[in-house]
Amino acid sequence: MDITSIRKKAIDAVASSSDLQGLEIVYKSFLGKSGELNILLKTLGSLPADERREAGQSLNLLKKEIEVICSKKQIELVNSDAENKLQNERIDVTLPGVKKEKGRLHPVTQTIHSISDFFGSLGFEVADGPEVETDYYNFEALNVPADHPAKDMHDTFYLGNGSLLRTHTSPVQIRTMEQQEPPLRIICPGRVYRKDSDLTHTPMFHQIEGLVLEEGASFAQLKGLLNDFLTDFFGQEVELRFRPSYFPFTEPSAEVDIRWKKGWLEILGCGMVHPNVLEMAGIDTKKYSGFAFGLGAERMAMLKYDIPDLRAFFENDHRFLKQF
Ligand code: FA5
Ligand code: MG
Repeated sequence: MDITSIRKKAIDAVASSSDLQGLEIVYKSFLGKSGELNILLKTLGSLPADERREAGQSLNLLKKEIEVICSKKQIELVNSDAENKLQNERIDVTLPGVKKEKGRLHPVTQTIHSISDFFGSLGFEVADGPEVETDYYNFEALNVPADHPAKDMHDTFYLGNGSLLRTHTSPVQIRTMEQQEPPLRIICPGRVYRKDSDLTHTPMFHQIEGLVLEEGASFAQLKGLLNDFLTDFFGQEVELRFRPSYFPFTEPSAEVDIRWKKGWLEILGCGMVHPNVLEMAGIDTKKYSGFAFGLGAERMAMLKYDIPDLRAFFENDHRFLKQF
């Protein structure tokens, strides 16, 4: 039995193991169940008794020695592995990050927020109403009887069951007056629908209704309020005009236009709430008078951001929306 040559073989094999897996194989080939040392151990029985003891002792010593060098090598390999990882897997803090695009509010939403903030600061409360309306709230209660030609001004989407998609936010005036006692100052932003589509019209758009109902409310106040609001929204240089107009639910009525492309673009309708409307809603017209307005939110955004086609707000092209 050649313990010296096995010892040398083991020391060399351990030393040349370059990773933990290789070391494990070496370990088993010497110390495993069918490893070289166990095979030798089985031959001990055939030795003469006096040699047997000595050989047994040296085999045991060798076994311990190989165990020690294997575990030393194991520690070495674990350490160099960690060192390698530190060297190669270091986080490079100078690498550019992965950019995540931030979402933002739609320009029409931003416009509605900024308009609501302005009127909010003047004590207006935000009111709400349904988009699916009845003929009564959308027309009749607003002094537009069934056979009235003004109904044709609105290209209404009828839903077939007696209801319709509201063509303006004015029905919220009625709903609010029915539910709350004057004095009232409300605005109502919301979606409205009409059979309309061109550069300055879409079938769905947003209006912001305003209603002031108090003692002595006057047309002069309405005009002053809208003037203040529009110069705040567009800046001092805005060119606007009040143009006499007609709505069945206001008297007198006006519309406001803003300078646009060598012409004018209408942004809102307004007027003193018609006494018929107030009376139908149960308001004491001897005590209270009111004025109201209805703004087109897309038109406001279009003028503010200089957008040539109102329909762009609804195409939701990311390149367009990113600019706001
Ligand atoms: C009305 O809808 C009235 N309810 C406004 C009103 C309220 C008058 C209270 C008096 C008192 P008009 O149909 O003009 O009015 O619409 C108001 C505004 O909505 C317009 O000035 C315009 O800015 C906008 N608008 C109208 N139709 C469209 C459309 N198809 N697409 C985008 N904006 C529109
Ligand atoms: Mg109009």
